[in-house]
Amino acid sequence: MTAYLASIEAGPDCRYPITDVIYNCPQTGGLLEVRYDGAPSDPWTLKQVWRERRMSNHPIDQSGVWRYRELFPFLDHERHIVTLREGNTPILDACLAAQYAGLDRLRFKHQGFNPTGSFKDNGMTAGVSQALRLGMKRVACVSTGNTSASMAAYAASCGLEAIILIPHGNIAFGKLGQALDYGAKTLQVEANFDQILALVRVLAEKLGIYLLNSVNPFRIEGQKAIAIEMMDQLDWEAPDWIVLPGGNLGNVSALGKGVKELYEQGFINRLPKFAVVQAEGSSPFYDFMQAPSRTGFVANPHPETLATAIKIGDPVSWPKAWAVLGTQGIVEKATEQEIADAKAIIGKCGIGCEPASAATLAGLKKLVAAGRIQKNETVVGVLTGNVLKDPDYIYRYHTGQLTGPQGEKLASTHGNAPIVVPNDFNQIAKLLEKT
Ligand code: F0G
Repeated sequence: MTAYLASIEAGPDCRYPITDVIYNCPQTGGLLEVRYDGAPSDPWTLKQVWRERRMSNHPIDQSGVWRYRELFPFLDHERHIVTLREGNTPILDACLAAQYAGLDRLRFKHQGFNPTGSFKDNGMTAGVSQALRLGMKRVACVSTGNTSASMAAYAASCGLEAIILIPHGNIAFGKLGQALDYGAKTLQVEANFDQILALVRVLAEKLGIYLLNSVNPFRIEGQKAIAIEMMDQLDWEAPDWIVLPGGNLGNVSALGKGVKELYEQGFINRLPKFAVVQAEGSSPFYDFMQAPSRTGFVANPHPETLATAIKIGDPVSWPKAWAVLGTQGIVEKATEQEIADAKAIIGKCGIGCEPASAATLAGLKKLVAAGRIQKNETVVGVLTGNVLKDPDYIYRYHTGQLTGPQGEKLASTHGNAPIVVPNDFNQIAKLLEKT
């Protein structure tokens, strides 16, 4: 299979070499994606090969992304692959969460089990490998925290210099701490995510730095392995629904590309539908999808949410996300209280996740209640980040100190506050008898 870059909007003749350092189509300005001439081997054989690789000790076979390399053969040599054994994330049954959502059964694919604790690792392994193949020395991104943590780790692991721009005061400490620990040059910019994305695009172009935001089509190629691994784990039976949170909309674009290709190439025999959930204060895609049109996207200049990972008002990948949702997909939005409560329920399942990930369950509950997702349909929710990314939020919720973006107090509906006790056997024993 020969790989090339193509615009998602222009005709089939509009194609560019896979080694061009471009993020948008030079003719139309539209988003680019990686495409391939030819088809992979037959599905039956490849499914066997991938199962066998789970037994292998070879690093690229152990990666839950590169194990499926036949479906994204854009590199010219395996020596460029940078892997931290990303992917390999479990699908977990969550009975309490299913009950909460009003579903018979609910499973979560938990991307928080990745090496840096979020789904970004699936795409970053591919983006950083392409940077190495292109001979780049420096890589950069703007981030609400997870992309930067991931990029910092992958860059450090192969000797690239990482430059990170983050909205000052608006990312969770767990994520900022990761970037510092992995040695990235970290700039806290006095602006929001969308403003900094415009800035970093100019910086990357003028200074010859490789841009690793999700406008980079190789990030999306790696990230589509989330869908491939999910189908492999489900024995190639697509669920009715895949539900995930939406910020910059790279993830739904990647998973959508993944399942579409699997379907077209005969790996699965039906397409799952997608539901994207946004935080109410940062929901321009929700608004857009009420009456979508090519010129109808309106950015939100002042996005707000405590789920800082998805505090994005001008998502770059909306055209790709729109194509994925087509006529069958849905967008929902969830309030701060709904996200916080859903997060506590996911915690009570013994699973846990960061706030943005909980938008998945919050949205699902509303979609089931509205009859848009049926109780007996099969649903896989994607939990995008690890519970330890934002411990401050957890502590505040459980101790009744969580306040929303406008200073409004949020209820600690499923709170589990720690109890301060004296160092006294009798008093502690009495307390434990009561509960
Ligand atoms: N969940 C988490 C935990 C995230 O970190 C992000 C995005 C999303 C959901 C939304 O995914 O942007 O593909 O729609 N985080 C980016 C970052 C923006 O910089 O880490 P999306």
